[in-house]
Amino acid sequence: MMRLGVCYYPEQWPEAWWEDDARRMAAMGLTRVRIGEFAWSRIEPSPGRFEWGWLDRAIETLHRHGLGVILGTPTATPPKWLVDSMPDMIAVDAQGRPRGFGSRRHYCFSHAGYRAESRRITEAVAARYGRHPAVVAWQTDNEYGCHDTVVSHSAAAAQSFRAWLGARYGDIAALNDAWGTVFWSAEYRSFDEIDLPSLTVTEPNPAHSLDFQRFSSDQVLSFNREQVDILRAHSPGRDITHNAMGFVTSFDHHALGRDLDVVTWDSYPLGFLEQFWFSDAEKLRYARQGHPDIAAFHHDLYRGCGRGRFAVMEQQPGPVNWAARNPAPLPGMVRLWTLEAMAHGAEFVAYFRWRQAPFAQEQMHAGLLRPDREDDIGAHEARAAAADIATLTAATADTAAVTPTRVALVFDYTSVWVTDIQPQGVGFSALRQAFEWYSALRALGLDIDIVPPDAALEGYRLVVVPCLPIVPEGFVDRLAACGAEVLIGPRTGSKTRHFQIPPELPPGDLQRAIPLKVTRVESLRPGVAAPPARDWLEHCETALTPAATLADGQGLLYRSGRLRYLAATLGSDALARLLAAVAGEAGLATVDLPEGVRLRRHRGLRFAFNYAAEPRRLPADTAREFLLGAEGLPPAGVAAWREVE
Ligand code: GAL
Repeated sequence: MMRLGVCYYPEQWPEAWWEDDARRMAAMGLTRVRIGEFAWSRIEPSPGRFEWGWLDRAIETLHRHGLGVILGTPTATPPKWLVDSMPDMIAVDAQGRPRGFGSRRHYCFSHAGYRAESRRITEAVAARYGRHPAVVAWQTDNEYGCHDTVVSHSAAAAQSFRAWLGARYGDIAALNDAWGTVFWSAEYRSFDEIDLPSLTVTEPNPAHSLDFQRFSSDQVLSFNREQVDILRAHSPGRDITHNAMGFVTSFDHHALGRDLDVVTWDSYPLGFLEQFWFSDAEKLRYARQGHPDIAAFHHDLYRGCGRGRFAVMEQQPGPVNWAARNPAPLPGMVRLWTLEAMAHGAEFVAYFRWRQAPFAQEQMHAGLLRPDREDDIGAHEARAAAADIATLTAATADTAAVTPTRVALVFDYTSVWVTDIQPQGVGFSALRQAFEWYSALRALGLDIDIVPPDAALEGYRLVVVPCLPIVPEGFVDRLAACGAEVLIGPRTGSKTRHFQIPPELPPGDLQRAIPLKVTRVESLRPGVAAPPARDWLEHCETALTPAATLADGQGLLYRSGRLRYLAATLGSDALARLLAAVAGEAGLATVDLPEGVRLRRHRGLRFAFNYAAEPRRLPADTAREFLLGAEGLPPAGVAAWREVE
């Protein structure tokens, strides 16, 4: 059964309120509470002086009410005394400016002194609570990468980067060769000469930038691993997680997931809609619901990162405070988001936060409760979701059915780094490509796994690769051998691992499976290319007859056996048509869903969600025995029924 939980900050409230808070949480149907991740200054108010009493009592109070505690290591908020004791632990931005104290995430991952402090405080907290019966899981730190904090341009980072490069390349000639430093006389005589790729007059060498991104990602992973090792030693049998973010790609989350038991993420659909690339029309249409695929995309992505295990650590409960505009969710959306997480296999959904704080940075951020301690709308919806989850769980108690997912979307983090470093056309992003393909497939009623390129592909009927510039070794053979119909998107295979154009030209090694060469690429202002091409067009040299062309006869889609290569980005309608056709060839049944409606299968159930601001009707189907909702879905409506095979 999917659990519900909440993020709670006992240190921010009078102790006299804790008992009542815990009682109300349990009465609301919550069974998990995440605490502690920002409490360093209360745990250790001055160096080496620990104040455990309050945290002991807070954990005991929650425990008395049957609430399982997810305890955070407090390293996202190093206290003032610590920063003052070693000011160079502060991260430095790309302009060379040290980050100030007074918010959070102000540390540099490469600073050896801070690393030692992170291990010390983790050890202290883990030793005290590791075997406490209330503690069911751990969260390392909080949102690595939040506020753009993976990359630091500090002296410590520069020094560690040089060592990292030395280990990767062995000798400096190999690095010069890999980066092509003969270009613009950038040759190095030793690793010691290499600076961080910042403050250059124009763009730095892209291979230099990519290696710096890889290095920065590795620093996050090793920082996290140090905490994980300590937590495992002190807290056997407890899950260890970290809470990832929406549309944040600044470190390799697949690699992070391999060191964790469960990957969790923080779901703020309205904030993400407002902050990312969505059109004004979409921002208007979905202002109070979020784009219908934002939450689903991340559920499926992080389920892949967690090798099947994921949860939502923070769920938006009302308006947030941090986007350009912060609307309230449509009544019912908090419940919808919760049930949708269940439909994607989440182990729990925890709301952020229990009560809106009347003070400090997030005073305009809603909680389940208002600052006056009364229930806010989110509390009512959490209760409704708890009841629905119980209904659905009871109805499927005897069903072991796991519906296998037939569509895999291949995504990796390096692809986003490559297209961010070298977009070659404004706005081109491998992340956006992945999202748009995902969204088009979801609008056809398909369930999708988002997987890294090293995942097993057997069993899928359709594999799509929206944009994978650096094709890892072995991928082409596995793709060709997996038996699925395959659609590969533009820019795939366009770079070597050293950020060079492959000697045989793009798509590089993929040419063994589909014989074509991309001889020229163009990025275009919308309206320049003939539809259905959108803003990226590739010119191919091949003996293959194109499976689709532009009006002037230029090849758009090529096919060799089960592999197809798409040589352009497409407008959304054309992309939807192409994906529907390929899904059909893969033998998958698709549905023409009304705008805003999405489906998902889970454990013998089928769910439908209405993200539209107007009522919608489910497409006609065989008789459905509804457990929730009905054919007619109001805005924010959810329906669920038993799937009849
Ligand atoms: C998350 C963060 C929380 C809180 C929340 C507000 O990014 O982990 O601590 O700041 O956003 O929406």
